[in-house]
Amino acid sequence: MTESATTAPTPTKIPLVAEARAPRVPAPDTGGAQASWAVARQLSVIVPTFKERDNVVTLYHRLETTLAGVDWEVIFVDDNSPDGTWQVVRDLAARDTRVRCIRRIGRRGLSGACIEGILAASAPFAAVIDADLQHDETQLPKMLALLQSGAAELVVGSRYVEGGSADAFGRGRLGISVAATMVAKRLLGVKIADPMSGFFMIRRDRFEELAPSLSVQGFKILLDIVATARGQLRTVEVPFVFGSRQHGESKLDSMVALDFFGLVLAKLTRDLVSLRFLMFALVGAVGLAVHLVTLDLAMLVWPGSFTKAQTIAAFVAMTSNFLLNNVLTYRDQRLKGFAILRGLVVFYIVCGVGLLANVGVAFSIYNQRPIWWLAGAAGALMGAVWNYALSSLLVWRRR
Ligand code: GDD
Ligand code: MN
Repeated sequence: MTESATTAPTPTKIPLVAEARAPRVPAPDTGGAQASWAVARQLSVIVPTFKERDNVVTLYHRLETTLAGVDWEVIFVDDNSPDGTWQVVRDLAARDTRVRCIRRIGRRGLSGACIEGILAASAPFAAVIDADLQHDETQLPKMLALLQSGAAELVVGSRYVEGGSADAFGRGRLGISVAATMVAKRLLGVKIADPMSGFFMIRRDRFEELAPSLSVQGFKILLDIVATARGQLRTVEVPFVFGSRQHGESKLDSMVALDFFGLVLAKLTRDLVSLRFLMFALVGAVGLAVHLVTLDLAMLVWPGSFTKAQTIAAFVAMTSNFLLNNVLTYRDQRLKGFAILRGLVVFYIVCGVGLLANVGVAFSIYNQRPIWWLAGAAGALMGAVWNYALSSLLVWRRR
């Protein structure tokens, strides 16, 4: 045998190499999870990204530094960023097996991305951290220790406890954040100081119990987790200073206020009504106002031709409902270009049939008990549910 042949790994030597790396191989599950944490992967870091090309490499290096001594992995969940963030992450992943990239196509949403990332995690503990370096990754080891010791099941990076701060927010945004936090605490009985934080670490098994009840829409994943757990999650907050963004810009626009109230209402009704249905119903209520105003105007233009005015008002209201739903209710699946026209036509048809359902139900109820408001409300509810169900199915269907 030549020199080089002896140094090259032969097939029989491979198991030996694997044994030498035993600490990286998870120990067989003996039921005592504590025992295997010492030898298996300890922490999965989930990073939701949208247009963060210039931040991900820096974050990766910072994780490497701060998590030296921890067996960790990082999972970036990118919603097909047009700036090619996923490509940058892919390149990192090719060089370091601790890095993974989930590239989602045709979907948008911070909460959904976080949920998907945590569910893909392999470690018993999962952290969620923003890609834009606004969160303080040096807190991660402390957060991990709190979970490993059993002192907590959820550790929240908190701006609103002693030692933390959110001064990087402009005054306006800080005010909104504080107000939303108060609403959440009052209405949902949430006890922690910063349920709006996007920085936390959780036991994956506890998360998986809650996951089926979480909303993939919106961006308040932590609030959702805490509200859904109803106090059943031992939680510790660690202070951190919310930094300012290095590159790119915030993706959270004024629409997130709607998402927030939708989530609060959904949780208050114990998930009886979904966030999306609430938005849809809200848009429907706006549509009623649009309808009446248009009807009033049309009657001024064509006095005496009620049918014509009513038809015009109905089409104006349906069109405005469609456009509002497209930018609000279904903004994660927003139709663009030619699809808008196709969607609008299908929406007219869905609403047309919905109107028949509405009148039909109202009529049959009124026949049994002539209480006009009861019959009217039942008809309207029937129409709304129909329109919602069929629109989700046919107009804004998932790709
Ligand atoms: N995959 C994916 N999909 N990621 C997203 C999306 C999305 O639709 N929207 C935002 N992100 C990613 C961003 O790329 C970033 O890494 C992180 O989520 C936070 O988004 P920002 O746009 O930077 O949010 P922010 O700084 O305004 O808000 C942060 O602070 C809030 C505190 O009030 C977030 O951490 C919020 O979750 C937090 O509530
Ligand atoms: Mn940010």
